[in-house]
Amino acid sequence: MRGKFITLEGCEGVGKSTQLNMLKDYLEMTGQPAIFTREPGGTPEAEAIRKIILDIDLCVSPRVEALLFAAARVSHIDNLLLPSINEGKLVISDRYLDSSFAYQGVARELGIDYVKEINKYAIENCLPDCTVFIDMDPEFSWRRQKGSVISGDRMENESILFHKKVYSGYDAVARLYPERIVRVIPDIDKTVTHQRILEALKSRGMIN
Ligand code: TYD
Repeated sequence: MRGKFITLEGCEGVGKSTQLNMLKDYLEMTGQPAIFTREPGGTPEAEAIRKIILDIDLCVSPRVEALLFAAARVSHIDNLLLPSINEGKLVISDRYLDSSFAYQGVARELGIDYVKEINKYAIENCLPDCTVFIDMDPEFSWRRQKGSVISGDRMENESILFHKKVYSGYDAVARLYPERIVRVIPDIDKTVTHQRILEALKSRGMIN
């Protein structure tokens, strides 16, 4: 039986890592085994590509960036995602395809269709069953992020304008794929956000 593939998406500083940790604890506590992974990354090859993409000393052009994310994704899909999903496992990835739509497609202005075309070759049919988009005002999340990062990577060092474009990219893809992407509005209280994520996943039959 095919497993399930869930992705978590959102702008920098929305509390994605905290929510992933809380979800991990919940699944462990309730005896639901899951594989947690991330993009770019998840395999040694993809983690190596990640270092190049996020290196602040490199000037990576938008097209190269989009292709590197897609290349890292191929490694992730072939070596970790598909084998695990095909074995019936529950797989949860911190970012996936929608990050490419929002960051490279909209914020880097390559266009969503262009990014879709590149990724057609990368993902083949490996689409998430459900994507949770943590929908937080970028003005707020970016300031939160800035407060906690001393020296960021290439993306974190981008301006508020860039992060506002990332947000509008997520907003656009959430409208494009309403069956797959569920918006979760975060609360100031992280346990409330956690409950909202659990409800979203339970109501879609992704977890118990
Ligand atoms: P990371 O430190 O994992 O960011 P975060 O903790 O916010 O998830 O770095 C990944 C960065 O790469 C992040 O800024 C989003 C960006 N990214 C893209 O631009 N395109 C993509 O396809 C993916 C997967 C990530």
